[in-house]
Amino acid sequence: MNYNKKSIEDVSVAGKRVLCRCDFNVPTKAGVITSDKRIVAALPTIEYLISHNAKVILCSHMGKPKGEWKPELSLKVVAKRLSELLGKEVVMADDVVGEDAKAKAAALKDGDVMLLENLRYMKGETKNDPAFAKELASMADLFVNDAFGTAHRAHASTAGVADYLPAVSGYLVQKEVSIMGKALADPDRPFVAILGGAKVSDKLNVINNLLEKVDTLIIGGGMAYTFLAAQGCGVGKSLLDEEKIDYCKDMMAKAQAKGVKLLLPIDTVVADAFPDPIDGPVEVQTVPSDAIPESKMGLDIGEKTRALFAEAAKGAKTVVWNGPMGVFENPTLAQGTIAVAQALAESDAVTIVGGGDSAAACEQLGFADKITHISTGGGASLEFLEGLELPGIACLEDK
Ligand code: 3PG
Repeated sequence: MNYNKKSIEDVSVAGKRVLCRCDFNVPTKAGVITSDKRIVAALPTIEYLISHNAKVILCSHMGKPKGEWKPELSLKVVAKRLSELLGKEVVMADDVVGEDAKAKAAALKDGDVMLLENLRYMKGETKNDPAFAKELASMADLFVNDAFGTAHRAHASTAGVADYLPAVSGYLVQKEVSIMGKALADPDRPFVAILGGAKVSDKLNVINNLLEKVDTLIIGGGMAYTFLAAQGCGVGKSLLDEEKIDYCKDMMAKAQAKGVKLLLPIDTVVADAFPDPIDGPVEVQTVPSDAIPESKMGLDIGEKTRALFAEAAKGAKTVVWNGPMGVFENPTLAQGTIAVAQALAESDAVTIVGGGDSAAACEQLGFADKITHISTGGGASLEFLEGLELPGIACLEDK
């Protein structure tokens, strides 16, 4: 895919109405934003547009309201936080492409900012309905996509509008694409990828694509048990994707044929059952990964594995990490994920953390500023690692 796309600096924005798609899908608890990382990440583009006298119409989705007007998923909380961060009023529309949004968009002066209501209140958004895309586009003269986290979705506001407006990228999309693009296309070596998370089936194409690029592939988390089973080990009551055992065998053969070092856990933290509640007390022991008792369930990587994985990360020049090593929501089972986060923080390599749980782990542990790049995308960064074309980027104008 061609990532050499025009950016906001390649077009004139002064005096123009600019529809800027952001990913303001931020976590909230009882109506309060619990991490404003995605809002902060969008600031450079918004500030550029303001200071270059654009009339800025921001839009985003939040959650999955599926065409229903769910008040708990209103973007009003985002407008409030954004306005604090910008030190400037962010006018909140009462609707998406209705009378209020259109009137407020028409009334914008150069340098003003407004935010439309949750795009997914409209059924046409996720269906990429051309009529809805056209209506959104009718409010603006230019489309800027800065929503990297949603770039893997071919929705009306991420791709459809580009059929009706000139379309360029914002700074966040540019940054994500250039850092991850370089890692995949021309990495400083050794290049090590660390994959975790629950299911092999979520990462099939990532594993396959990364085996073409990396020097070492490390597999931990729930995924590792299917690989261990493919090696002929019993995995007890651990998570097992039985249908994917042959796939794991193929990937192990591919790694061998390509001379890629494939590292799997050598010891495993096991318990009798999955903790309930997830962060509740759990009694654990550590066993060799090829001797998980039938009655036990693997829930984290053991101490020897932590050291093995950390050593590989420390010796690398580029490290990409996506997915936790164990049930990191539980303090007893978070040690593997902590060890990997710490190894990345201490490494001199270019370190890139895919969004979602691994990004959250780095932030919670206070390692975020020691990582080269933490992606704002969960699904989007995974699809990027798969080598897939992201519709929200493909639709932008080439340089
Ligand atoms: C995310 O949180 O990964 C993005 O905002 C995309 O959200 P979605 O999975 O609901 O499309």
